[in-house]
Amino acid sequence: MLEIRDLVVSYGAIEAVRGVTLTAVPGAITAIVGANGAGKSSLLRAISGLAPIRGGSIRLDGKDITTVSASRRAEMGLSHAMEGRRIFRQLTVEENLQLAWQFGRRRNAWATALERVFQTFPILKEKRRTPAGLMSGGQQQMLIVSVATICNPATLLLDEPSLGLAPIIVQEIYAFFTERCREDGTTVLLAEQMAALALKVSAHGYVLRQGRVVREGPSKELVDTGLVAALSSAYL
Ligand SMILES: Nc1ncnc2c1ncn2[C@@H]1O[C@H](COP(=O)(O)OP(=O)(O)OP(=O)(O)O)[C@@H](O)[C@H]1O
Ligand SMILES: [Mg+2]
Repeated sequence: MLEIRDLVVSYGAIEAVRGVTLTAVPGAITAIVGANGAGKSSLLRAISGLAPIRGGSIRLDGKDITTVSASRRAEMGLSHAMEGRRIFRQLTVEENLQLAWQFGRRRNAWATALERVFQTFPILKEKRRTPAGLMSGGQQQMLIVSVATICNPATLLLDEPSLGLAPIIVQEIYAFFTERCREDGTTVLLAEQMAALALKVSAHGYVLRQGRVVREGPSKELVDTGLVAALSSAYL
């Protein structure tokens, strides 16, 4: 379980996150939705130890990790799939997966882990010896989420995994995360600009606007109250 209290993140004079309180529970996807610049990525980066925290606290499974290093947080089972492409383009699909597995806090055997990735995304099996940079954007995104999850992380932070992808691939990737949550009891915190999508797959949602939580609740209720329409309007 991830518990954030009154978190403040700033870059010099720019306050990106202004006192956010939220909870993400195991076995479910928790969504953070908000427009461009709302502070979603800053919040996730602060949780994984990559953005400067000026106030508030972060607890992971009851332990205060606010001042714990990023590498130690990763060892504690926290994994962060970033916005943008973060794979080694010259290395093959299998080499990327192996590196992630070797350096992660692995809870599973390599053969099992690899087989699970290949079962989920058969195209990655076909392309296992292809340099990652030569694959399509959608295939690279499949590799990115596989790299982020190959060690069975207990807590997974996802930053716009749908970015630039065809709808069919987005569906496949979200089905994968939903299954992970259910089967492994993973805690997933998902940041998305595409509110409709995020609220469809998540159990609970938070709406971020200019660094603050302006709405929160069961995702279904947020959808029913017309939030998706509001999010795409000038209001947010
Ligand atoms: N490294 C940085 N240095 C200075 N300002 C930053 C930095 N990263 C983000 N910001 C600023 O912090 C604010 C929040 O940005 P952030 O990237 O967290 O938003 P976001 O919700 O993830 O947006 P997007 O949907 O575009 O990814 C913005 O005003 C942004 O310009
Ligand atoms: Mg972002």
